[in-house]
Amino acid sequence: MKQIIVGNWKMNGLSAEADALVAGLATELATLPTRADVVVCPPFTQLARLGPAVKKAGMALGAQDCHQDKAGAHTGDISAPMLVDLGVEYVILGHSERRGEHHELDETVREKAVAAMAAGLTPIVCVGENADQRASGESEETVGWQIQGSLPQGFRGIVAYEPVWAIGSGTAASQQDIADMAAFIREELVRQFGDAGKTIRILYGGSVNERNVTDILPVEHVDGALVGNASLKAETFVPLVRAAR
Ligand code: G3H
Repeated sequence: MKQIIVGNWKMNGLSAEADALVAGLATELATLPTRADVVVCPPFTQLARLGPAVKKAGMALGAQDCHQDKAGAHTGDISAPMLVDLGVEYVILGHSERRGEHHELDETVREKAVAAMAAGLTPIVCVGENADQRASGESEETVGWQIQGSLPQGFRGIVAYEPVWAIGSGTAASQQDIADMAAFIREELVRQFGDAGKTIRILYGGSVNERNVTDILPVEHVDGALVGNASLKAETFVPLVRAAR
């Protein structure tokens, strides 16, 4: 399976810097002979502007969330069909920052995944234990429940394992921890979806950078990375793409 490197810009990127970042990515990616799939997920405000340049550079456009309804009285929200209307192909759902700051439950994430698939988007559903759950030895149990609760029947998307304690910390999970969890997630996906679970891509996210990426991407069952901080500069993001198979 081809690997996929997804840049999650989070709440970063005014027009000038967003343009410069995409231009930098376009220039550097053009020099790579063959490469993994690349997705950039800017904030909603930049999607329409950046779409053409992102596609011209051979990347795909992703969003960071969507509402579960197609339309209606949901002030401030954005629906999956609205994203498709802008040329968006992927959407991150259930990121721990949304689960934490916006109190999103597994059930909501599942409804959003249904809406995303119905609109033709590829959902990237995030799961991962926090520091307390890890300390009490409940990492697998937590992730298992999140997978069962957040992925709808017939799920056709991507699962991102993001241990909350590693996000933005500068230190990724160890290669062994990633290997153990990726194998566990694969087992869960096959248990839940049968053979289709073998083809769902599993990403690792949490302080991926140029120094640790060569330990992370070769791990069995790891099909790519979901990248925060290192996706904000071409010089820190492109090496991750270069390291992918
Ligand atoms: O979505 C991305 C993750 O939250 C990882 O962020 O690479 O800044 O740790 P980070």
